[in-house]
Amino acid sequence: MYIVLEGIDGAGKSTQIKLLKEWLENNGLNVETIVEPTDMEVGKLIRQLLTRSDAESDSMQKTLGLLFAADRMMLMDKIERLENESTVVISDRSFYSSLAYQSPQEWIKEINKYAKIPDLVLLLDLDVKKSVQRCDGTDEFENEEFLTGVKQNYLDLAKSNDNIKIIDANNGPNKVSSDIKKAVAPLFDICKDCIA
Ligand code: TYD
Repeated sequence: MYIVLEGIDGAGKSTQIKLLKEWLENNGLNVETIVEPTDMEVGKLIRQLLTRSDAESDSMQKTLGLLFAADRMMLMDKIERLENESTVVISDRSFYSSLAYQSPQEWIKEINKYAKIPDLVLLLDLDVKKSVQRCDGTDEFENEEFLTGVKQNYLDLAKSNDNIKIIDANNGPNKVSSDIKKAVAPLFDICKDCIA
């Protein structure tokens, strides 16, 4: 299984990934986590470029779109290997991030056409104002106007993709965690009603 957490910056993805991993392990599963952008060569370059003042410009967005796709492609063998070992893969972001943050969509889809489609995407949907408060402001994307568009793109993607489940991330971390577990439980035949 390849499970992905998506959402705008500050939505709580990394906290929730830790909680989900622990819970799946307590249910007897092997779990590995991955993060996009990665800490490999292309991922490092991406993180540098994200801090540039022109990161939101059209040409930088397209450059980043290509780099995100390349960085992601470097993960594909690892995901496949883990799946063959029956290890559950939980990823912080996927090509749905590129569809939500970069454009134009048709081109982003084309350059990501060999990316693996997740079995389940948990979209942590957070108010943009809360997101901006929680962000450290290091990336050029972390502003209200840009993130309002990204949030809407995510919600549109959820309408047209059955594998995306929306989780209200405005709730406290425990409630968000139990909503995530309830969405994940059916994939592994774990009792849904036993989740607090
Ligand atoms: P992330 O590491 O999740 O953010 P943070 O700095 O909060 O840890 O991701 C870095 C930024 O990259 C984030 O603003 C989202 C953006 N991003 C894209 O624009 N497209 C993509 O395909 C991916 C994977 C991330």
